[in-house]
Amino acid sequence: MKTRIIDGRAIANEIKEDLLQETKDLIAENIIPRMAVLHIGEDPASLSYTKSIKRISTKLNIEVDVRKIEETADDAYVIDEIKNLNEDKNIHGILIQEPIPSSFNREKLLLSVSPLKDIDCMNPVNLGRVMKGKFLFAPSTPLGVLKILECENIDVEGKHIVIVGRSNIVGKPLANLFLIKEKNGNATVTVCHSKTRNLPFFTKMAEVLIVAIGNPGFIKCDMVKKGAVVIDVGINSVMDNEGKHKLVGDVDFEAVTGAVAYLTPVPGGVGPVTTMMLLSNLIKAVREKTVKS
Ligand SMILES: NC(=O)c1ccc[n+]([C@@H]2O[C@H](COP(=O)([O-])OP(=O)(O)OC[C@H]3O[C@@H](n4cnc5c(N)ncnc54)[C@H](OP(=O)(O)O)[C@@H]3O)[C@@H](O)[C@H]2O)c1
Repeated sequence: MKTRIIDGRAIANEIKEDLLQETKDLIAENIIPRMAVLHIGEDPASLSYTKSIKRISTKLNIEVDVRKIEETADDAYVIDEIKNLNEDKNIHGILIQEPIPSSFNREKLLLSVSPLKDIDCMNPVNLGRVMKGKFLFAPSTPLGVLKILECENIDVEGKHIVIVGRSNIVGKPLANLFLIKEKNGNATVTVCHSKTRNLPFFTKMAEVLIVAIGNPGFIKCDMVKKGAVVIDVGINSVMDNEGKHKLVGDVDFEAVTGAVAYLTPVPGGVGPVTTMMLLSNLIKAVREKTVKS
């Protein structure tokens, strides 16, 4: 079977063009879209993600205000910082980079971000709205998965979707989005996790298989249905044969190619689309504020 390798970068570029037009329109109205990114501690992966957000944002006329906070700070200090950002009229979106060091009360910090500026949908208030199907923001990675399916004209209505991974930022919100009673929803969803017994039984049933577990090459050819759509959310850094670091997904890309109808690569699949969805959420936040004021 010929497998279509989905080009996430091309999809991201299309979204980028639309966003550029939107930011030009906003600037014509004297509004500069601006987001604050809070970094607590020195996690290298999240610092590098922020760098990439900043680089893309600059090209889109979006300002990114990075606030670095020492790991030795306390909850009260960070909450104060968040409160200031909530009240700052020039800041439209707030992103707290993960991982938040374990010495902080993560839930308390996330709850203190204004739901109207919570562009990655980390505040439980916004997550609850996603569950109800009526929301302003949804998390950017699940939105990225939906966007990819939409761009590839893959209709999920009535289909059996299996999601492997039940995290609060990917698996659970994605399952809720697929259940919404409208376009891009109405699917039948199974969510699997590390305690699922006989995982291949479920993955082989999937017409659309979404994998977000953080385990390199875990999904093998004998775990997928022939002709399925496979979306690989995983990003794992592994050593190649020459001892160099490379990024791979949760799906064994080579093994599964040829067995399924659609497959996203890593890198170049869900990742670039996710970043664009975050920036789309920021523009949504700007528009929401403009309408409300
Ligand atoms: N492309 C992107 O934009 C993007 C964005 C976010 C994350 N990611 C990547 O996606 C992956 C998952 O991220 P996450 O934040 O959702 O991870 P997470 O919070 O660690 O959750 C992982 C989930 O996978 C399940 N799991 C782990 N091993 C499993 C196994 N062998 N069989 C079945 N289920 C298993 C876990 O089950 P339990 O709940 O039972 O522990 C958990 O629900 C990571 O590689 C991450 O880097 C990519």
